[in-house]
Amino acid sequence: MNNPIGIFDSGVGGLTVAREVFKLLPQEDVVYFGDVGRSPYGGRSKEIITKFTNQDILFLLEHKVKFIICACNSASSVALDDVAPNFEIPIIGVIEPGARAAIARTKNARIGVIGTMATISSNAYARIIHQVRPDIKVFSLACPLFVPLAEEGYIEKKATYLIAQDYLQTMRDVNIDTLILGCTHYPLLKNIIADVMGDEVTLIDSGQETAREAYKILMEKKIINTTASQQPTPEGEHKFYVSDVPEKFTQVAARFLGRPVERVTRVDISGY
Ligand code: DGL
Repeated sequence: MNNPIGIFDSGVGGLTVAREVFKLLPQEDVVYFGDVGRSPYGGRSKEIITKFTNQDILFLLEHKVKFIICACNSASSVALDDVAPNFEIPIIGVIEPGARAAIARTKNARIGVIGTMATISSNAYARIIHQVRPDIKVFSLACPLFVPLAEEGYIEKKATYLIAQDYLQTMRDVNIDTLILGCTHYPLLKNIIADVMGDEVTLIDSGQETAREAYKILMEKKIINTTASQQPTPEGEHKFYVSDVPEKFTQVAARFLGRPVERVTRVDISGY
């Protein structure tokens, strides 16, 4: 099936998930929606995040998407279980793939999760981990400052290192061997987080795991773009939509996506 895949996020962060999807499914057309006008979601209530998530999905459905990825950890944590069953097409979030990967990697049954306030207070990662392995100890920590630091390009800065040291000290104290990067922005700070946590701790990038899950579902449901079998594999078309002026998104996007974005269109999301 050659309809596009829809990906949405509270803003620019979901491009770390889109990047992995583009790598793994280069032939697929993708429509990306970044809700930059109402970002960040991570400090908002369940009620508001649920309303926004529903609108984001309705917008993507207008583009005849065949499958939707909720790239935002905050929306995946607090809203998706309520919203996704109301739609007919498959919709996945980033929590389950990340949680499952962490379960597979941990050897000492001690997993850390870092994310926004919304993600951490929802306990979504711990809930999924405990459904599969009730014996695993899960340690959760909100690191809200990581979001603006990543967006401002404070990637390899001393200040970011010091904040990471301060935040993550409690994670170091509890002897985890696996740490889930439970926020779209954290893969940008992977080097600093790895430095602070040390070699013995494996970092799980939920975006990478979600792209693998997306591939699996497209295959299972036989909705993968069939031109994939042609040689050379055709390049899918990538369209980007945002809910405020595109300038800031375009500036920051390259850092998150690994390449500049073209064709960014502003939409009014309030009408959905
Ligand atoms: N995309 C959000 C997440 O992964 C981070 C930014 C925000 O708070 O909106 O939780």
